[in-house]
Parts: sequence; C-alpha cells; structure tokens
Amino acid sequence: MFYELARRYMFGRDAEWAHDFALGNLRRFANTPLSMAWSQSVADKPVNFLGIDFKNPVGLAAGLDKNAECIDAFGQMGFGFIEVGTVTPRPQAGNDKPRIFRLPEAHAVINRMGFNNKGVDNLVNNVKASKYTGVLGINIGKNKDTPNEKGKDDYIHCMRKVFEHASYITVNISSPNTPGLRDLQYGDALDDLLQSLKNEQVDLIAKHDKSVPMLVKIAPDVDAVQVQQIAESLMKNRIDGVIATNTTLEREAVKGLQYADEMGGLSGRPVREKSTFVVNELKRITEGNLPIIGVGGIDSADSAKEKLNAGADLVQVYTGFIYEGPQLVKRIVDAL
Ligand SMILES: Cc1cc2nc3c(=O)[nH]c(=O)nc-3n(C[C@H](O)[C@H](O)[C@H](O)COP(=O)(O)O)c2cc1C
Repeated sequence: MFYELARRYMFGRDAEWAHDFALGNLRRFANTPLSMAWSQSVADKPVNFLGIDFKNPVGLAAGLDKNAECIDAFGQMGFGFIEVGTVTPRPQAGNDKPRIFRLPEAHAVINRMGFNNKGVDNLVNNVKASKYTGVLGINIGKNKDTPNEKGKDDYIHCMRKVFEHASYITVNISSPNTPGLRDLQYGDALDDLLQSLKNEQVDLIAKHDKSVPMLVKIAPDVDAVQVQQIAESLMKNRIDGVIATNTTLEREAVKGLQYADEMGGLSGRPVREKSTFVVNELKRITEGNLPIIGVGGIDSADSAKEKLNAGADLVQVYTGFIYEGPQLVKRIVDAL
C-alpha cells in the first residue's frame, strides 16, 4: 500500500529525480520510526554461497545505491544481501542528464548513468558509518578517463580500499555506459586483468587474514562462443564466481515504445531471457563448478525461480524492485 502510493508519486516525475528523492528519504529516515514505512520481516531461507551465510538468496543489484548511503534501509527491507557501487577510485559526475528513462509498458528502464559516484573513499566511510550487519557486496569499476590499458590499476586501487569492508567484491566489466569497458570481457585483455586481480586478491587475503571472494559481472550481449571463452578465463584464473548479467544494448523487445531509442543499457523484463540464457550456458560449460548470481528481469517469484533453475545460486533485483517495491523481496523468498 505504502509503496503503491510512493510509486504513483515518483512515477509522475523525472526518473532520476524520483531516484534521488527516494534514496534521500531512505538515508534520512532509516534509523527513525519512519522506517516502518518500508521495514518488513522476511522468512529465513539460509543459503551458504562462497563460504558466506546468506539469510535468503534475494539481493539488491548494483547501481541503485552507488555510494552505499542507504544500506541500513535496504537491510530493513529484508534483502538477503546488498551490493553497492559501482564505485570508482575518484568521484565522477557521469553522463549528462537526462540519463534514466522508464518504459512502463515493458516493465523496463534504459539508463546511461556512466558510473556517477562519489569515489571509493566516500563509499568506505558510508559503509563504516552504517549499522547494517548483513552480507555486503562492493562493486568496483574504473574511472571514465582512465584508459583501458590502465584500467587494472583502478580496479586494484578500489580492491585495496574496500577489501576490509566487503563480504564479496564484484569486478564490473560489463557496463555499456563507460566507453570501451566491455572490451575487457574478451581475449587477452580479460585474461590479463583477471590474472592481476587474482594475484592482488591472494595478497590481500594474506595481509588481512580474511577471505573475500571476487566475482566478475558480465553482459548479456554475448553469444554461446563468447560465454564459453569468458567462462574458461574465469575458471583458469580461479575467479570465485560470476554475476550474470548487466543491462543489454539490444532493443528488439521494446521497439516502438517511447524512449526505446535512447542510448544506454536496457533492464527489466526485456533482458530476462537473455540473462537466463547466459546463466544456463555458464552452468552447462562449467558443469556447475562456477558459483553464479543471476540478475536480469526478475520481477516475480516465477522469474526468480527461472534463474535458479537455470543454475543461479542467488538472485538480484533492480528494475523489478523499482516497479514492485520491497514486497517483491518477500514475495520471492516466500515462494522459494
Ligand atoms: C539505473 C541503473 C543503474 C545501474 N548501475 C549499475 C552499476 O553501477 N553497476 C552495475 O554493475 N550494474 C548496474 N546496473 C545493472 C543492474 O545491477 C542489473 O545488472 C541490470 O539492471 C539487470 O537487472 P534488472 O533487470 O533487475 O534491472 C544498473 C541498472 C540500472 C537500471
């Protein structure tokens, strides 16, 4: 009921304004009685994944809380885990506005945010200040003005900063909104990056005497051969897991709709099938030996089950959460 009203109010306004308005209130009121508006108790459905205990398998996907400003509030909604970021070493403004568009007929969103964030030091301070004690993933990226050849340094910089504070780290090489970023998903560039990041992870584990798994987030715009190559590289470099998938560049499913031709990544229902295909292929190719978080178009218990049946161990939601609200978490967990 509360979300129904809030949604009606926010959907009548510009998408980014609504996003900032919602996050501002979640941050401000998280530890006050007003948090009753979104707090809910969600059944325990424990899952052990990568040696971490999750209270349920439904997580918040990266990009909604880029600066980790609202972890307490998302924890109160009953998520089994929260992924914050993408964060970059230095703060950056992202692309010009407008840069988020709703496509309600398709239960979808197109965004070209471009990793707008306040930088990794700010994120770490926010994590330290939060009261949240659940599982926290921190998703890292590179600054737009860092050339791809030096991209590795940005990821390593962020890894070092967040390592102590993260339950797991996600290496995002699949945003379509940072020019050239997706090139890191292929061939020698991928192998080289993963090898360096693995070495860094090993050093950090020894230094902090704490094991923090590292996952790589990939795009849905890949064919079976490309999935095979990515999977082989992930396995070869002993990466702990994979998140499939990010947003798509394809527009077939939304042709003719308002905003369908806006540049950026499409998320929500239209990406569901493509993401499930990638999850399925990863599971098949790796014979179940690579832990998978499935994300893309989950907006119901059935679409969550589709990802789990395809081979995902956990799921995440973003666009479905925008359309359905916190009840979505409860609905999925109850149905599992
Ligand atoms: C507005 C917006 C911003 C996003 N920002 C990020 C991001 O910073 N890093 C990231 O890894 N994924 C980001 N994503 C991708 C989501 O985490 C997710 O992988 C994708 O949207 C597919 O899931 P969905 O259909 O449930 O939205 C973003 C998605 C949206 C809609």
